[in-house]
Amino acid sequence: MATINFMRSVLSLAAVGAIIAPLSAFAAGNPDAGKVMYTECAGCHAFNKNGIGPDHCGLIGRKAGGLATFKNYSEVMTASGIVWTQKTFSEFMAAPMDYVPDTTMEYIGVPDQESRDDLFAYIKKMSDDPKVCPKK
Ligand code: HEC
Repeated sequence: MATINFMRSVLSLAAVGAIIAPLSAFAAGNPDAGKVMYTECAGCHAFNKNGIGPDHCGLIGRKAGGLATFKNYSEVMTASGIVWTQKTFSEFMAAPMDYVPDTTMEYIGVPDQESRDDLFAYIKKMSDDPKVCPKK
């Protein structure tokens, strides 16, 4: 019951976020806060290796579903035509299963825009670090 109520409040926050998001500009984000948020992703994602989800090295600027070494993309992700920028990342992460219906990423999303900006900043920082993400 508590879980259902929690899910409901997350969903309604996501809906509010979708209405407010177009009005607000994207902030630079705080990679340290993003690192903490990333613990939510780390069960499925990592840097410089694929897991249940695709490697996040080089995510920014990549075509959705475009990492050749990851074999488990859904057709909807590959066919989505999305290119990962801060804008599309934020829109997707607000409610993944609404933004890309039938995505196999079973994750409810991050309703708070600031947290999404932080996550993006962390992924960018990691991707830009050649010790974490060696250029291929
Ligand atoms: C339960 C596992 C799981 C969790 C948790 C998860 N993801 Fe994913 N993620 C996936 C899977 C699986 C895919 C591939 C989805 C598809 O092809 O439809 C994916 C795809 C993505 C993509 C698209 C990547 C590409 O190469 O096109 C992004 C961006 C992403 N995830 C970000 C995140 C972030 C950020 C978090 C944490 C806030 C997160 N994910 C949490 C499993 C997960």
